[in-house]
Amino acid sequence: MGVADATLAELTSDQLRNLCEIAGIDERDPIRLLGDILGPAGPRPLAEPPLWPSDVADDATPVEFSMQFESDGNRHLRVLAEKLADEPGPGANLRATRELLTSLDARYGLNLDRLRAVEDLFLADDPQGKFAWWYSFIFGPDSMPKFKIYINPAMHGAEHASALVERALGRLGLDGAWQTIRDHALTRDGFDHPGFFAVDLDRGPQARVKLYVTHDAAGPDDAVRAARAVPGIDADRVAEFCAMLSPETEVFRGRPLVSSYSFVDGDQETPSNYSLYLPIRDYVPHDAVARERTVRLLKDHGVDPDLLDRALTALTDRPLEDNTGLIAHLSLRMSPGKTGTTVYLSSEAYGGTPQRAA
Ligand code: TRP
Repeated sequence: MGVADATLAELTSDQLRNLCEIAGIDERDPIRLLGDILGPAGPRPLAEPPLWPSDVADDATPVEFSMQFESDGNRHLRVLAEKLADEPGPGANLRATRELLTSLDARYGLNLDRLRAVEDLFLADDPQGKFAWWYSFIFGPDSMPKFKIYINPAMHGAEHASALVERALGRLGLDGAWQTIRDHALTRDGFDHPGFFAVDLDRGPQARVKLYVTHDAAGPDDAVRAARAVPGIDADRVAEFCAMLSPETEVFRGRPLVSSYSFVDGDQETPSNYSLYLPIRDYVPHDAVARERTVRLLKDHGVDPDLLDRALTALTDRPLEDNTGLIAHLSLRMSPGKTGTTVYLSSEAYGGTPQRAA
């Protein structure tokens, strides 16, 4: 069977199976969960248009892969995914997302306490914006899959996003958290926005609540200021990260820099983790350059860059020079005494990032 006849499920399962092998992860849960989340989109031949214009990836593929590396040697493989209904639409997709949650809970015994505490704030029959809820599946070499729900705080309209996030944080006992984030990350009126609100669905003490902030037209110093919300980390590393990945960029005017803060058990107004996400695909001529810079980043973090090349080969055999976007984002994660980096990889099932006009 040629690639042209393959379905979305076939292509993405092959990609995920390859990535599992590289990361030393048992493929069974990942492959089954991928099938669950793709649902009606899975059996569609790739020659047919996407079932729904998902914003998970630039080409409407409803999944995105990522490989996460920690300074303590830990590795995880993750899948960000949007659940689509049989007849997709904003409201129907959210209903399908919540139905899947019920069956995942039955199978894996999730901790839904955090989500239950806030979900009434984030329900709608006809949500606005590019999505309402997304999933992340997180796989490690020797652990059960973990789950996260990403919520679009603008699903009732961008003008309500801040107030909703503030209420949600308060309900989760994170009093003062909003103020901390506002003071450090939401300082540029009209340019900084709450991007995603995420809750972990597992029981570990590191399970957390995460708030993402989008920084339109921001520079590295804006990210450094955002990082200073977390005590005990070296915020200047954020500027080094930007300089390593996009040395010529003073203001990120393409796809925006994004900050995130994690609150774990015991945190109240002070997050214990800061991450910066850099959408490298908008700041390189093509993926060969993105790869070179990612190699440098991985070496800097003590990660064998061969893993990157194997991961890229696991996804595609297209020449890296042909387009950008196979490496979609890179992130730097910092908490006191610990750093990490994550490489976000596109499936390119529907052709990848549209080429920029010359
Ligand atoms: N595709 C969207 C974007 O690029 C959402 C997204 C997917 C994203 N993965 C991400 C955003 C990682 C930030 C970081 O904005």
